Amino acid sequence: MPVNKEIKKVTTHRLMEMKLRGEKIAMLTSYDYSMAKLVDEAGIDIILVGDSASNVMSGNETTLPITLNQMIYHGASVVKATTRALVVVDLPFGTYQGNSMEALASSIRIMKETAADSVKLEGGAEVIESVNRILSAGIPVMGHLGLMPQSIHKFGTYSVRAKAEDEAKKLLEDAHLLEDAGCFAIVLEKIPAALGKQVAQELNIPLIGIGAGNGVDGQVLVIHDMLGITQQFSPRFLRRYHDLAAEIKGAVGAYIDDVKSLDFPNDKEQY
Ligand code: KIV
Repeated sequence: MPVNKEIKKVTTHRLMEMKLRGEKIAMLTSYDYSMAKLVDEAGIDIILVGDSASNVMSGNETTLPITLNQMIYHGASVVKATTRALVVVDLPFGTYQGNSMEALASSIRIMKETAADSVKLEGGAEVIESVNRILSAGIPVMGHLGLMPQSIHKFGTYSVRAKAEDEAKKLLEDAHLLEDAGCFAIVLEKIPAALGKQVAQELNIPLIGIGAGNGVDGQVLVIHDMLGITQQFSPRFLRRYHDLAAEIKGAVGAYIDDVKSLDFPNDKEQY
């Protein structure tokens, strides 16, 4: 299906229509103005200002250290660049779990200070009170189940989740819980493809997968991974569309050579 590039803002309602007519949803992360502008102009449906910024922008090993202020900084930069895509900002670790009033306050800050369209959080039954509280203020919420990087210290590994029957059953129950609460979509990360397909078939809201197979309603990747900027990260689900690391290093190397050899700037490149 061709990408519709007319500038008509993607809304939660439009995402639901896409699911109904079987049009897959394309989502990518962005964290800054310049990248988000390119991603939006290329016709992406959803831009996720993910807390993966903690890894790819700040160099942290996990997503846990990133703060609400830092997410707001990234979110506001992305929103300024975006005219078409729906923008989702991750609630960072420690700003919504265990205290629904804090969850609401964090979400309100994100909505007011970034002008994003919605927030995303990780978890099911454990965070449902927070989900309900945020939704009660009219803030759209995207869920996130399966591999939940903010819980890495509980699980100890980034391996595939919900392979065992009891974990798959809980994931399915959590997905229904989030849908019943009013979430407009859910990210499913690193789970068996058959389970991803089952969840997408049982739920009416869109399921966006990352390592959840092709039976879901859309896909999301981290932009630094799919462009080949990150080099050490190579999970099976990742398709690299470019080797930008090599391109950047090549261009920087050429610049260094030109400076050192006095080739740059030449007569036409000075005043
Ligand atoms: O933070 C992030 O980039 C995410 C995606 C991996 C879905 O949550």
